[in-house]
Amino acid sequence: MESVEYHQALALLHWQIELGATEAICDAPVNRYEVPAAVEKPKPAKPGPGRVVPMAAGIDPLAEATRFAAAAQTLEDLRAAMQAFEHCELKRGARNMVFSDGTPGARVMIVGEAPGRDEDREGRPFVGAAGQLLDRMLAAIDMGRTHADAPVYITNVLPWRPPQNRDPKPDEIAMMKPFLIRHIELAKPEVLVIVGNWAAQALLGKRGITRLRGQWAQVQGLAALPMFHPAYLLRSPEFKREAWADLLELKARLARG
Ligand code: URA
Repeated sequence: MESVEYHQALALLHWQIELGATEAICDAPVNRYEVPAAVEKPKPAKPGPGRVVPMAAGIDPLAEATRFAAAAQTLEDLRAAMQAFEHCELKRGARNMVFSDGTPGARVMIVGEAPGRDEDREGRPFVGAAGQLLDRMLAAIDMGRTHADAPVYITNVLPWRPPQNRDPKPDEIAMMKPFLIRHIELAKPEVLVIVGNWAAQALLGKRGITRLRGQWAQVQGLAALPMFHPAYLLRSPEFKREAWADLLELKARLARG
């Protein structure tokens, strides 16, 4: 079979599932009772001129992320550093890196979890159903991504979509955290809004958003307000009341200056 790239292969699989395929079979029958001949393990290649040394060879991805992030002096540098960072597996399955949206330098920086399918396609955070709800929530307190007087800046803990929107893994969060911290330093917001459990895990080191929401915390010397994730509010609209209280609290905090 001709080689297909990741998204093509995924689309072909989805198509077959739609046609009703429930099992994968090969062209030739497989004798599962046959004892396979012993396979010799390939010997690791020795590094030499012109040979690409595999990533694991002595490179610590976290140290590398820290080094890349620290070198960035502007948001554009940081975007380029993240584009060039090759140690996060999520990058291989993603269509686009999702860096940020909204207004750099805004007083409020919102930190979400990770791109979903729509964000992965568009390369912008919070553009799907949850993002549209987030926009309506912000509009309700007279704020918005590019609002003339009260803009916000938006990013995520992870810049690449986890496959099938699975939860981020602790090592993925840890590996990408230096970039997130540098992102906050370079965007220089006054206030952080932490949406959902995974952003709370990354920035506060704990989950339990039901308990954490609405309580101001400190992150990197900044006031940080944890809130329910809009995707959670879409599934559990009964919590919109609490979300509204948190939005009003954010507005009041900004008014206090
Ligand atoms: N959920 C998030 O946390 N971030 C996005 O960008 C989209 C959905």
